Amino acid sequence: MSYETLLTDVRGDGTRRTLLITLNRPKALNALNDQLMDELGAALKAADADAGIGAIVITGSEKAFAAGADIGVLAQHDFVKAYTTDLITRNWETIRTIRKPVIAAVAGFALGGGCELAMMCDIVIAADTAKFGQPEIKLGIIPGAGGTQRLPRAVGKAKAMDLALTGRMMGAEEAERAGLVSRVVPADKLLEEALDAATLICNLGVASVLAVKESVNRSFEGTLADGIMFERRLFHALFGTPDQIEGMDAFLNKRKAEFK
Ligand code: CAA
Repeated sequence: MSYETLLTDVRGDGTRRTLLITLNRPKALNALNDQLMDELGAALKAADADAGIGAIVITGSEKAFAAGADIGVLAQHDFVKAYTTDLITRNWETIRTIRKPVIAAVAGFALGGGCELAMMCDIVIAADTAKFGQPEIKLGIIPGAGGTQRLPRAVGKAKAMDLALTGRMMGAEEAERAGLVSRVVPADKLLEEALDAATLICNLGVASVLAVKESVNRSFEGTLADGIMFERRLFHALFGTPDQIEGMDAFLNKRKAEFK
């Protein structure tokens, strides 16, 4: 399928390959409007349903992953319009329903909804040029796509308050120290690094990949006791699967596993 605000490309040559999604509204620094979020939702759902896709990478441009929700559109709302149309709901949460791993490859600005979009991904890999922030306070609003909830879970209350209350930007190194980002790489290696990580995932057992994602996400959404029990049940459920048998047999026989 072709899109107006995204570029899509399938990368890799294994049984399962990676869908690379590039946000593409360069003149507006990839500001996120309804069309882009609808197209992103459609691309993600199609990839999730496609057995030939094992992982998804979302990236932007060198200058901006995404500079937030489209302020031109936001500015046309008063409370009644925002509330009755459920502003920032339509297709913003689709990414949460995707079962396959989604990697954000972030260069340049990831602000407001752009930072929130990165935080909805499972792994965030940042170029050394990346800048994260929740500057909504400077627009007289607050984050509206999960920023006040996911940011404290990612970086702790103190830094989340600092960022969301001041609207300041945080560079890639600080974001990595704070736990928002899993690795920082030189900008010219960003895509290669993200695609390599995606390929590693594509070559692993599908059921265990989905189970890790589901179980780690569970740790964010319920109590620790619920999460541990949920994890244990999924752990038990993987015993006897072809991938578990192959993986353990390969380890015990000192050979490389061949997952089907
Ligand atoms: N919405 C709409 N257009 C945007 C935009 C946004 N979020 N961010 C940038 N643009 C546009 C600019 O208006 C400008 O367009 P024109 O060339 O037509 O004037 C173009 O992109 C380039 O931007 P700048 O000239 O401002 O570029 P810069 O390098 O000087 O600054 C920037 C870059 C610091 C990212 C600055 O553009 C900026 O501060 N953008 C807004 C960031 C922001 O406040 N994001 C939060 C939005 S609200 C939100 O996201 C709510 C939510 O929780 C979902």
